[in-house]
Amino acid sequence: MAAAQPLLQVEDLRTYFFTRRGVVKAVDGVSFSLEAGETLGIVGESGSGKTMTSLSLLRLIPQPGGKIVGGKVLFDGVDLLQLSESEMRDYRGSKISMILQDPMASLNPVYTVGEQVAEPLRQHQHLSGKALWDQVTEALRLLRIPSPRERLQNYPHQMSGGMRQRVVGGIAVSCLPKLIIADEPTTALDATIQAQYLAHLKDLQRETNVAMIFVSHDFGIVGRMCDRVAVMYAGKIVETASVRDLFDNPQHPYTIGLVNSVPRLDRKVERLASIEGQPPQLLNLPPGCRFAPRCYAVFDRCHLEEPPEMSASDDHSAACWRVGA
Ligand SMILES: Nc1ncnc2c1ncn2[C@@H]1O[C@H](COP(=O)(O)OP(=O)(O)O)[C@@H](O)[C@H]1O
Ligand code: SF4
Ligand SMILES: [Mg+2]
Repeated sequence: MAAAQPLLQVEDLRTYFFTRRGVVKAVDGVSFSLEAGETLGIVGESGSGKTMTSLSLLRLIPQPGGKIVGGKVLFDGVDLLQLSESEMRDYRGSKISMILQDPMASLNPVYTVGEQVAEPLRQHQHLSGKALWDQVTEALRLLRIPSPRERLQNYPHQMSGGMRQRVVGGIAVSCLPKLIIADEPTTALDATIQAQYLAHLKDLQRETNVAMIFVSHDFGIVGRMCDRVAVMYAGKIVETASVRDLFDNPQHPYTIGLVNSVPRLDRKVERLASIEGQPPQLLNLPPGCRFAPRCYAVFDRCHLEEPPEMSASDDHSAACWRVGA
Protein backbone atom coordinates (compact mmCIF):
# COMPACT_ATOMS: atom_id res chain seq x y z
CA MET A 1 0.00 0.00 0.00
CA ALA A 2 1.30 3.45 -0.85
CA ALA A 3 2.07 5.77 2.08
CA ALA A 4 -0.77 8.18 2.82
CA GLN A 5 -0.17 11.46 1.03
CA PRO A 6 -0.25 14.70 3.01
CA LEU A 7 -3.27 16.98 2.61
CA LEU A 8 -1.07 19.71 1.20
CA GLN A 9 2.36 19.43 -0.30
CA VAL A 10 4.07 22.57 -1.54
CA GLU A 11 7.19 22.03 -3.60
CA ASP A 12 9.68 24.70 -4.62
CA LEU A 13 7.04 27.42 -4.92
CA ARG A 14 8.26 30.63 -6.54
CA THR A 15 6.26 33.85 -6.79
CA TYR A 16 7.97 36.87 -8.29
CA PHE A 17 6.99 40.46 -8.95
CA PHE A 18 8.19 41.87 -12.22
CA THR A 19 8.69 45.57 -11.52
CA ARG A 20 10.37 48.38 -13.43
CA ARG A 21 13.27 48.23 -10.99
CA GLY A 22 13.75 44.50 -11.40
CA VAL A 23 12.47 41.13 -10.24
CA VAL A 24 11.30 40.93 -6.61
CA LYS A 25 11.57 37.33 -5.44
CA ALA A 26 8.82 37.44 -2.81
CA VAL A 27 8.54 33.64 -2.54
CA ASP A 28 11.71 31.94 -3.66
CA GLY A 29 11.67 28.15 -3.50
CA VAL A 30 9.31 27.41 -0.61
CA SER A 31 8.52 23.78 0.27
CA PHE A 32 6.44 22.36 3.11
CA SER A 33 3.70 19.85 3.78
CA LEU A 34 0.67 19.61 6.00
CA GLU A 35 -1.34 16.65 7.26
CA ALA A 36 -5.12 16.65 7.65
CA GLY A 37 -6.13 18.36 10.90
CA GLU A 38 -2.64 19.72 11.52
CA THR A 39 -1.74 23.38 12.20
CA LEU A 40 1.39 24.74 10.58
CA GLY A 41 2.61 28.16 11.64
CA ILE A 42 4.43 30.39 9.17
CA VAL A 43 6.37 32.97 11.10
CA GLY A 44 8.79 35.72 10.11
CA GLU A 45 9.34 39.45 10.05
CA SER A 46 7.18 41.74 7.98
CA GLY A 47 8.05 41.49 4.29
CA SER A 48 9.47 37.95 4.51
CA GLY A 49 6.87 36.56 2.07
CA LYS A 50 4.27 35.02 4.40
CA THR A 51 1.25 36.64 2.76
CA MET A 52 2.51 36.01 -0.77
CA THR A 53 3.06 32.34 0.10
CA SER A 54 -0.52 32.11 1.44
CA LEU A 55 -2.03 33.91 -1.53
CA SER A 56 -0.03 31.76 -3.94
CA LEU A 57 -1.71 28.61 -2.60
CA LEU A 58 -5.05 30.02 -3.76
CA ARG A 59 -3.56 31.69 -6.83
CA LEU A 60 -4.64 35.14 -5.67
CA ILE A 61 -1.44 37.05 -6.40
CA PRO A 62 -1.79 40.86 -6.59
CA GLN A 63 -1.88 42.20 -10.13
CA PRO A 64 -0.24 43.68 -12.08
CA GLY A 65 3.27 42.37 -11.74
CA GLY A 66 2.89 39.30 -9.56
CA LYS A 67 3.29 35.83 -11.04
CA ILE A 68 3.76 32.30 -9.78
CA VAL A 69 6.76 31.27 -11.84
CA GLY A 70 7.38 27.76 -10.56
CA GLY A 71 6.64 24.94 -8.18
CA LYS A 72 3.77 22.68 -7.23
CA VAL A 73 0.87 23.05 -4.82
CA LEU A 74 -0.48 19.54 -4.39
CA PHE A 75 -3.80 19.51 -2.55
CA ASP A 76 -5.15 15.99 -2.06
CA GLY A 77 -2.73 15.05 -4.81
CA VAL A 78 -4.06 17.62 -7.33
CA ASP A 79 -1.63 20.34 -8.46
CA LEU A 80 -3.63 23.54 -8.02
CA LEU A 81 -1.18 25.44 -10.22
CA GLN A 82 -2.24 23.32 -13.19
CA LEU A 83 -6.01 23.88 -12.85
CA SER A 84 -8.08 26.19 -15.03
CA GLU A 85 -9.37 29.37 -13.39
CA SER A 86 -12.91 27.94 -13.18
CA GLU A 87 -11.66 24.70 -11.59
CA MET A 88 -9.70 26.81 -9.12
CA ARG A 89 -12.85 28.68 -8.09
CA ASP A 90 -14.30 25.37 -6.82
CA TYR A 91 -11.46 25.18 -4.31
CA ARG A 92 -11.55 28.75 -3.01
CA GLY A 93 -13.92 29.21 -0.11
CA SER A 94 -15.06 25.59 -0.19
CA LYS A 95 -12.17 23.12 0.13
CA ILE A 96 -9.71 25.83 1.13
CA SER A 97 -10.81 29.03 2.81
CA MET A 98 -8.94 32.06 3.98
CA ILE A 99 -9.21 34.44 6.91
CA LEU A 100 -7.56 37.67 5.89
CA GLN A 101 -5.23 40.00 7.72
CA ASP A 102 -8.02 42.55 8.16
CA PRO A 103 -11.12 40.46 8.79
CA MET A 104 -13.30 43.48 9.61
CA ALA A 105 -12.91 44.67 6.06
CA SER A 106 -14.17 41.36 4.71
CA LEU A 107 -17.73 41.82 6.04
CA ASN A 108 -20.17 43.77 3.92
CA PRO A 109 -22.09 46.40 5.98
CA VAL A 110 -25.26 46.23 3.84
CA TYR A 111 -26.00 42.50 4.21
CA THR A 112 -27.05 40.63 7.34
CA VAL A 113 -24.55 38.33 8.97
CA GLY A 114 -26.75 35.34 8.04
CA GLU A 115 -26.69 36.28 4.34
CA GLN A 116 -22.92 36.53 4.40
CA VAL A 117 -22.38 33.18 6.09
CA ALA A 118 -24.94 31.63 3.69
CA GLU A 119 -23.32 32.91 0.51
CA PRO A 120 -20.48 30.36 0.15
CA LEU A 121 -22.89 27.53 1.04
CA ARG A 122 -25.29 28.59 -1.69
CA GLN A 123 -22.52 28.93 -4.17
CA HIS A 124 -20.43 25.84 -3.42
CA GLN A 125 -22.83 23.38 -1.84
CA HIS A 126 -25.96 24.51 -3.68
CA LEU A 127 -27.93 24.47 -0.45
CA SER A 128 -31.20 26.38 -0.11
CA GLY A 129 -34.22 26.73 2.17
CA LYS A 130 -34.18 24.99 5.53
CA ALA A 131 -31.03 22.94 4.84
CA LEU A 132 -29.16 26.16 4.10
CA TRP A 133 -30.30 28.00 7.23
CA ASP A 134 -29.69 24.96 9.43
CA GLN A 135 -26.10 24.85 8.28
CA VAL A 136 -25.65 28.61 8.71
CA THR A 137 -26.95 28.31 12.27
CA GLU A 138 -24.63 25.39 12.89
CA ALA A 139 -21.65 27.44 11.68
CA LEU A 140 -22.50 30.24 14.13
CA ARG A 141 -23.04 27.73 16.93
CA LEU A 142 -19.58 26.28 16.29
CA LEU A 143 -18.24 29.80 16.75
CA ARG A 144 -19.99 30.00 20.16
CA ILE A 145 -22.15 32.88 19.03
CA PRO A 146 -25.02 33.07 21.52
CA SER A 147 -28.60 32.84 20.16
CA PRO A 148 -27.39 32.07 16.64
CA ARG A 149 -30.87 32.08 15.05
CA GLU A 150 -31.58 35.62 16.20
CA ARG A 151 -28.04 36.77 15.42
CA LEU A 152 -28.47 35.77 11.78
CA GLN A 153 -30.73 38.80 11.32
CA ASN A 154 -28.08 41.25 12.58
CA TYR A 155 -26.04 43.57 10.42
CA PRO A 156 -22.29 43.68 11.15
CA HIS A 157 -22.54 47.07 12.92
CA GLN A 158 -24.98 45.54 15.45
CA MET A 159 -22.30 43.18 16.69
CA SER A 160 -19.25 43.71 18.88
CA GLY A 161 -15.78 43.58 17.32
CA GLY A 162 -15.08 40.17 18.83
CA MET A 163 -18.33 38.75 17.53
CA ARG A 164 -17.75 40.13 14.04
CA GLN A 165 -14.39 38.45 14.09
CA ARG A 166 -16.04 35.15 14.92
CA VAL A 167 -18.49 35.63 12.07
CA VAL A 168 -15.57 35.92 9.69
CA GLY A 169 -14.30 32.64 11.15
CA GLY A 170 -17.83 31.26 10.64
CA ILE A 171 -17.75 32.16 6.96
CA ALA A 172 -14.39 30.44 6.64
CA VAL A 173 -15.67 27.15 8.13
CA SER A 174 -19.24 27.19 6.85
CA CYS A 175 -18.45 24.99 3.85
CA LEU A 176 -16.47 22.59 6.05
CA PRO A 177 -13.18 23.19 4.23
CA LYS A 178 -10.25 20.82 4.65
CA LEU A 179 -7.83 23.72 5.03
CA ILE A 180 -8.07 27.22 6.47
CA ILE A 181 -5.34 29.76 5.80
CA ALA A 182 -5.41 32.42 8.51
CA ASP A 183 -3.14 35.36 7.70
CA GLU A 184 -2.43 37.39 10.87
CA PRO A 185 -6.10 37.05 11.85
CA THR A 186 -5.70 38.85 15.18
CA THR A 187 -3.37 41.72 14.30
CA ALA A 188 -6.19 44.29 14.36
CA LEU A 189 -7.62 43.12 17.72
CA ASP A 190 -6.91 44.19 21.27
CA ALA A 191 -5.26 41.67 23.57
CA THR A 192 -8.39 40.30 25.31
CA ILE A 193 -10.39 39.78 22.14
CA GLN A 194 -7.30 38.34 20.48
CA ALA A 195 -6.95 35.66 23.17
CA GLN A 196 -10.66 34.80 22.93
CA TYR A 197 -10.55 34.61 19.17
CA LEU A 198 -7.52 32.32 19.15
CA ALA A 199 -9.27 30.03 21.63
CA HIS A 200 -12.31 29.95 19.33
CA LEU A 201 -10.22 29.09 16.31
CA LYS A 202 -8.66 26.22 18.26
CA ASP A 203 -12.10 24.92 19.36
CA LEU A 204 -13.35 25.17 15.85
CA GLN A 205 -10.46 23.15 14.60
CA ARG A 206 -10.99 20.48 17.23
CA GLU A 207 -14.64 20.16 16.26
CA THR A 208 -14.17 20.11 12.50
CA ASN A 209 -10.67 18.61 12.22
CA VAL A 210 -9.78 21.22 9.61
CA ALA A 211 -6.07 21.73 8.87
CA MET A 212 -4.77 25.25 9.30
CA ILE A 213 -1.92 27.39 8.08
CA PHE A 214 -1.51 30.07 10.69
CA VAL A 215 0.53 33.05 9.54
CA SER A 216 1.95 35.45 12.10
CA HIS A 217 4.90 37.70 12.88
CA ASP A 218 4.28 36.87 16.56
CA PHE A 219 6.32 33.90 17.70
CA GLY A 220 4.45 33.65 20.99
CA ILE A 221 1.06 33.23 19.29
CA VAL A 222 2.46 30.67 16.86
CA GLY A 223 3.80 28.70 19.83
CA ARG A 224 0.32 28.52 21.33
CA MET A 225 -1.60 27.78 18.14
CA CYS A 226 0.52 25.42 16.07
CA ASP A 227 1.81 21.86 15.90
CA ARG A 228 4.68 22.65 13.56
CA VAL A 229 6.35 25.86 12.48
CA ALA A 230 8.07 27.07 9.33
CA VAL A 231 10.27 30.14 9.83
CA MET A 232 10.48 32.45 6.80
CA TYR A 233 13.27 34.86 6.02
CA ALA A 234 13.60 36.91 2.84
CA GLY A 235 11.33 34.71 0.69
CA LYS A 236 12.61 31.36 1.95
CA ILE A 237 11.82 28.92 4.71
CA VAL A 238 14.95 28.78 6.86
CA GLU A 239 13.80 26.29 9.49
CA THR A 240 10.98 23.78 10.00
CA ALA A 241 10.29 21.78 13.16
CA SER A 242 7.64 20.86 15.70
CA VAL A 243 6.77 23.78 17.97
CA ARG A 244 8.49 22.12 20.90
CA ASP A 245 11.70 21.38 18.98
CA LEU A 246 11.80 24.85 17.56
CA PHE A 247 11.54 26.54 20.94
CA ASP A 248 13.75 24.08 22.82
CA ASN A 249 16.36 23.48 20.20
CA PRO A 250 16.38 26.16 17.48
CA GLN A 251 19.10 25.60 14.86
CA HIS A 252 19.17 28.54 12.47
CA PRO A 253 20.77 31.71 13.88
CA TYR A 254 17.70 33.70 12.78
CA THR A 255 15.36 31.36 14.68
CA ILE A 256 17.65 31.47 17.70
CA GLY A 257 17.34 35.26 17.65
CA LEU A 258 13.54 35.07 17.35
CA VAL A 259 13.18 32.53 20.15
CA ASN A 260 15.35 34.66 22.43
CA SER A 261 13.21 37.71 21.73
CA VAL A 262 9.97 36.05 22.92
CA PRO A 263 9.19 37.11 26.47
CA ARG A 264 8.69 34.05 28.67
CA LEU A 265 6.71 33.88 31.85
CA ASP A 266 9.06 31.33 33.35
CA ARG A 267 12.12 33.48 32.79
CA LYS A 268 12.95 36.90 34.11
CA VAL A 269 14.25 38.98 31.25
CA GLU A 270 15.98 42.26 31.76
CA ARG A 271 15.88 43.24 28.15
CA LEU A 272 14.43 41.60 25.04
CA ALA A 273 17.10 40.24 22.78
CA SER A 274 16.45 41.47 19.27
CA ILE A 275 18.14 40.81 16.00
CA GLU A 276 20.24 43.71 14.78
CA GLY A 277 19.92 44.94 11.22
CA GLN A 278 17.31 44.79 8.48
CA PRO A 279 16.18 41.98 6.17
CA PRO A 280 17.65 42.31 2.65
CA GLN A 281 15.82 43.90 -0.26
CA LEU A 282 14.25 41.08 -2.27
CA LEU A 283 15.37 42.89 -5.40
CA ASN A 284 18.86 41.91 -6.60
CA LEU A 285 19.74 39.60 -3.74
CA PRO A 286 23.45 38.97 -3.09
CA PRO A 287 24.82 35.42 -3.50
CA GLY A 288 25.15 33.14 -0.50
CA CYS A 289 23.06 33.07 2.65
CA ARG A 290 20.47 35.85 2.84
CA PHE A 291 20.91 36.11 6.59
CA ALA A 292 24.69 36.58 6.41
CA PRO A 293 24.74 40.39 6.98
CA ARG A 294 22.93 39.91 10.32
CA CYS A 295 24.38 36.58 11.41
CA TYR A 296 26.64 36.23 14.46
CA ALA A 297 27.92 32.85 13.21
CA VAL A 298 28.78 33.89 9.64
CA PHE A 299 31.92 32.45 7.99
CA ASP A 300 33.49 32.55 4.50
CA ARG A 301 31.34 29.95 2.82
CA CYS A 302 28.13 31.79 3.80
CA HIS A 303 28.97 34.66 1.43
CA LEU A 304 29.70 32.35 -1.49
CA GLU A 305 27.10 29.60 -1.51
CA GLU A 306 23.48 29.51 -0.53
CA PRO A 307 22.95 26.93 2.24
CA PRO A 308 20.61 24.06 1.30
CA GLU A 309 18.09 22.58 3.72
CA MET A 310 20.04 20.48 6.22
CA SER A 311 18.52 17.88 8.47
CA ALA A 312 19.00 18.53 12.20
CA SER A 313 16.94 15.53 13.31
CA ASP A 314 13.76 13.74 12.25
CA ASP A 315 11.24 16.28 11.06
CA HIS A 316 13.57 19.17 11.89
CA SER A 317 15.55 20.95 9.22
CA ALA A 318 17.29 24.28 8.74
CA ALA A 319 18.98 26.05 5.85
CA CYS A 320 22.31 26.94 7.43
CA TRP A 321 25.87 25.75 6.81
CA ARG A 322 26.40 25.31 10.54
CA VAL A 323 23.59 22.76 10.92
CA GLY A 324 24.69 19.15 10.97
CA ALA A 325 28.30 20.28 10.30
N1 LIG B 1 2.44 44.39 -5.23
C1 LIG B 1 3.75 44.16 -5.02
N2 LIG B 1 4.70 44.56 -5.90
C2 LIG B 1 6.02 44.31 -5.70
N3 LIG B 1 6.50 43.64 -4.64
C3 LIG B 1 5.61 43.21 -3.73
C4 LIG B 1 4.20 43.43 -3.86
N4 LIG B 1 3.60 42.87 -2.79
C5 LIG B 1 4.57 42.33 -2.04
N5 LIG B 1 5.79 42.52 -2.61
C6 LIG B 1 7.07 42.03 -2.09
O1 LIG B 1 6.87 40.77 -1.52
C7 LIG B 1 7.52 40.69 -0.27
C8 LIG B 1 6.76 39.79 0.63
O2 LIG B 1 5.53 40.41 0.97
P1 LIG B 1 4.49 39.72 1.94
O3 LIG B 1 4.28 38.32 1.53
O4 LIG B 1 3.29 40.60 1.99
O5 LIG B 1 5.27 39.76 3.35
P2 LIG B 1 4.73 39.39 4.80
O6 LIG B 1 3.33 38.89 4.68
O7 LIG B 1 5.69 38.36 5.32
O8 LIG B 1 4.81 40.65 5.58
C9 LIG B 1 7.65 42.12 0.21
O9 LIG B 1 8.84 42.29 0.93
C10 LIG B 1 7.70 42.92 -1.05
O10 LIG B 1 9.05 43.11 -1.43
S1 SF4 C 1 24.63 29.88 6.57
FE1 SF4 C 1 26.14 31.17 7.59
S2 SF4 C 1 25.31 33.25 7.51
FE2 SF4 C 1 23.65 31.83 7.04
S3 SF4 C 1 22.64 31.52 8.97
FE3 SF4 C 1 24.14 29.86 8.74
S4 SF4 C 1 26.02 30.59 9.72
FE4 SF4 C 1 24.68 32.38 9.45
MG1 LIG D 1 1.58 39.63 5.56
